[in-house]
Amino acid sequence: MKVRGSVSVPGDKSITHRMLTLAALAPGTSQIGGALTSLDARSSAAVLRRLGAEISPLRSGRSLRIKGRQRFREPSGVLYCGNSGTTARLLMGTLAGHDFPATVTGDRSLSRRPMRRVTIPLRRMGARADHEADDGLPVTIRGGRLKPLRYEMPVASAQVKGCLLLAGLIGGVPVSLREPAPSRDHTERLLRSFGYSVTEADGWIEFVPQGSIEPFQADVPGDVSSAAFLVGLALLAEGGELRISGVGLNPTRTAFLDVLERMGASVDVETTGTSAGEPMGDLVVRPGLLSGVEVKSEEIPGIIDEIPVLAVLASRAEGTTIFREVGELRVKESDRLGLLASNLRGLGASAEVSGDDLVVEGADRPARGAVRTAGDHRLAMAFTVLGTVPGAAVLVDNIGCVDVSFPGFLTTLKALQRRGRE
Ligand code: S3P
Repeated sequence: MKVRGSVSVPGDKSITHRMLTLAALAPGTSQIGGALTSLDARSSAAVLRRLGAEISPLRSGRSLRIKGRQRFREPSGVLYCGNSGTTARLLMGTLAGHDFPATVTGDRSLSRRPMRRVTIPLRRMGARADHEADDGLPVTIRGGRLKPLRYEMPVASAQVKGCLLLAGLIGGVPVSLREPAPSRDHTERLLRSFGYSVTEADGWIEFVPQGSIEPFQADVPGDVSSAAFLVGLALLAEGGELRISGVGLNPTRTAFLDVLERMGASVDVETTGTSAGEPMGDLVVRPGLLSGVEVKSEEIPGIIDEIPVLAVLASRAEGTTIFREVGELRVKESDRLGLLASNLRGLGASAEVSGDDLVVEGADRPARGAVRTAGDHRLAMAFTVLGTVPGAAVLVDNIGCVDVSFPGFLTTLKALQRRGRE
């Protein structure tokens, strides 16, 4: 297929979760344009409603209206976060600032994901956090009077960072954090946009919660992680050019473009402005041959959600691509590391996990076979993209799971394919 014209993607998932949470804690009415309306965004809206926020229905193309409150009210029953790790971890931070018990749970995938990475520092702040099992969900949090926190995070994680900054915000205590490598900084940017002091010195992020959250109006940029799948599609196409417009270009999210550049990809970045403290613009992609590269461990936090699409592109590149130290992928919505390698092999490509590294050998042969996603939206989209190569035949077991982050993914893909044939 050829690619043509321009396309947009739904709102950024990370920013939508954070804006919803802050709007729910702003006494008065806030308005958010361009918010993501996917299943994960709905999970955040649902738990925030249970805590007393009024949130209008999430409909694509419609602004959201949120009537927040200074303090949440005690929920009746458990708070169900569906498949959404960001919902669960940010929520535990906000609950730590409240003096009532609340139990957080999620679907099978989410319940198995590591939560001690947030409950350990939350306990250090003085919150109670009881796991039903050793780790994972359900977790019952009882917060209230918190202590300041100075903490070296063992994993680079924006979910953990966001959780702890929110606990500091609501508990009214300073929080200092150091990450092993920088993760996405949307929480810091949003807090700064409210006038809070979030500074960085000697690798420490220092947050002093003086001030208050006022109701706000803001627009969410398009999700660059969703755009990455369309970038992948365009790079694998047979000709033409694709513009992906209105995408968030926060530098803590765009490192996959640096990896693609090293692979020889042609992607131009055109910055058009900012929205809610976040740079945004267009990506212009032209198909072309790719070569294998080594991706260093310090690059991984910046491309964590783009590794699935980069790995399928690597399977079409000339030579070997190595992603160093990607063990964190084992605790995403699925064991993404194991499933990336086994599915690539199942499709006739050559891929293996060596220790915590993912090694992908590129080849010309089109992928053919069935893909097991374990309900992981990013695996479903990455392998669907691989299936667009001429001669490929890829059957994805559960394509519906794309609704977790990119509702309309298939409609967009089909429209692009139709346009390419015209
Ligand atoms: C996210 C952070 C990342 C990312 C996830 C969204 C966020 O997770 O994989 O899709 O919005 O904070 P980790 O913080 O666990 O790396």
